[in-house]
Amino acid sequence: MLLDLARSRRLLFVGGKGGVGKTSVSSALALAYARHGGRVLLVSTDPAHNLGQAWDQSLSDGATRVFTQENGHVDAVEIDPQATIERHFATVSATMMRLLPDRLHASAQQHLDQAKSAPGSHESAVLERIAELVETSRDSHDLVIFDTAPSGHTLRLLSLPEKLTTWTETLLASRDRSERFAAAARSVVGTKDDEPSADAELRRTLIARRDRFELLRGLVTDSLATSFIVVSIAERLPIAESIDVVQQLTVLGIDTSSIVVNRRSPSDAGDVLAERRAREEQHIARLRAAVGSIPLIQVPLLAGDLTGADSLSELAVCLTAAA
Ligand SMILES: Nc1ncnc2c1ncn2[C@@H]1O[C@H](COP(=O)(O)OP(=O)(O)OP(=O)(O)O)[C@@H](O)[C@H]1O
Ligand SMILES: [Mg+2]
Repeated sequence: MLLDLARSRRLLFVGGKGGVGKTSVSSALALAYARHGGRVLLVSTDPAHNLGQAWDQSLSDGATRVFTQENGHVDAVEIDPQATIERHFATVSATMMRLLPDRLHASAQQHLDQAKSAPGSHESAVLERIAELVETSRDSHDLVIFDTAPSGHTLRLLSLPEKLTTWTETLLASRDRSERFAAAARSVVGTKDDEPSADAELRRTLIARRDRFELLRGLVTDSLATSFIVVSIAERLPIAESIDVVQQLTVLGIDTSSIVVNRRSPSDAGDVLAERRAREEQHIARLRAAVGSIPLIQVPLLAGDLTGADSLSELAVCLTAAA
């Protein structure tokens, strides 16, 4: 069932409460699909990355090949928002400096430095990198799997494209303390008839950015292209949070294809675990009642450390064996 999902979608988001197994599940699914010939881009959007640990390799903002077998492979990325911010501001700064007279360069630079650390700039940068990876992987990868940050953060991120005004727009539209600078920038950009190319250049940048976010928004809300896999464990709080996540995704127009109930206790390994398992059943019943027909995929508690392709394989078998 999860393999069919991997085969038929372009983007899969894997989310859930902290520590429930998002990184392990997204990695194991990537591995399973790569073994069936899929070319997978596996992207961690969580600022506190642990994707590298799962694969026992150090990863970066660029793609690192972590698994390959015949035609299939997994390339992994840990998004580094600061790197995106630096890249973005380097471009904006170069354009600004070219457009502005020398005497305004110092205040322009000051303004850019302030904008860099503005609230939300990291989230915007993560989203920008997601949009970029989705676009650039169109021909090179069959599927992009996002290993996301704990629930609230990810949902905020996914709801951003609609609200997001680009940084460049903000720079030019700013009405607060940088009004004087913004007015100067506007006058340079907007009124010089003898320099239409400057205006056109900024416009092109703005439009390219807006198009990219619109493309992402369209893809994410298209249930034929994108699905969200919620990972949970069968305890009270994680189950309550999973129910919440499914509801919020519905409001955002995002399809929840399945819920992985991870680390199920065994029934045949002593009284304590058997009792635990019985309590888990109650939580699962509550989940089932709340989420209707969304398939639940139950995965047992495994003995080993889930690090490296070999041990992820064991989880991959459990995940994909489920009907
Ligand atoms: N089915 C399982 N059986 C045993 N251990 C598991 C199982 N699934 C995950 N784990 C272990 O649980 C721990 C947490 O898993 P993981 O890092 O995948 O969670 P996460 O949701 O990504 O956490 P975070 O929110 O911190 O990113 C890891 O040590 C992992 O090896
Ligand atoms: Mg993780």
